[in-house]
Amino acid sequence: MRKKIVAGNWKMNMDMQEGLAFAQAVDEYYRVKPSTKAEVILCTPFIHLSGVAEILKNGNVSLSAQNCASEPSGAYTGEVSATMIKSTGAGYVIIGHSERRTYYHEDDKLLNRKTTLAIDNGLSVIFCCGEVKAEREAEKQFSVVRRQLEEGLFTLSADDMKRIIIAYEPVWAIGTGLTATPNQAQEMHQYIRGLVKEKYGNESADQLTILYGGSCKPSNAREIFSKPDVDGGLIGGASLKKEDFTAIVEAI
Ligand code: PGA
Repeated sequence: MRKKIVAGNWKMNMDMQEGLAFAQAVDEYYRVKPSTKAEVILCTPFIHLSGVAEILKNGNVSLSAQNCASEPSGAYTGEVSATMIKSTGAGYVIIGHSERRTYYHEDDKLLNRKTTLAIDNGLSVIFCCGEVKAEREAEKQFSVVRRQLEEGLFTLSADDMKRIIIAYEPVWAIGTGLTATPNQAQEMHQYIRGLVKEKYGNESADQLTILYGGSCKPSNAREIFSKPDVDGGLIGGASLKKEDFTAIVEAI
């Protein structure tokens, strides 16, 4: 059985005090009521990582960064390396989120470097892919996702692929209130699993956790998660309210 995951991506929200209080509340919730069906991950801004790691230590919730540097160390003012993230106690990093691709012009080659560095430093990677609206309208969604995976991920060894979680996030559904239909999500997830099978074989494809992201909320999560190739979600807006986030985790 492959792992089910629900990850909350805070993006650039919550100051230090708010973030720590929120993490504390989520941690307490899953100490009293452990989630047996899904691994729960909080994806926080860099500044929260070490404080949140301390709170989550010995609990049932995991920790992720939202980005990492494309270089291992050195004179890169303002950057945070994979080694630094690992040293906080975080186990995961999101790479290739569409907001990084769009606003910070991160291309497939750069994302491949970041992914390799993250894996080499012992992190697991939540690797995001997905098409923009114009690409879907032109029916190019499959070729776009294929390119993103081939160039961003498929240089990894089969062993390293075990530490990859893929998040399919159609860009037109992120923060817009538009959600892919459960069938659109299933169709793309099945396609992604097929690509991984072609490249790495049956076992890697079967074990790969593929998350859906894009306006996932308590009211639609159950239907999306019911699809056979959807193994959980990467949740943005709805991860900022504990009741909504935990309700989505329960939808698994
Ligand atoms: P959203 O964001 O749930 O607010 O659409 C998802 C994401 O960007 O990971």
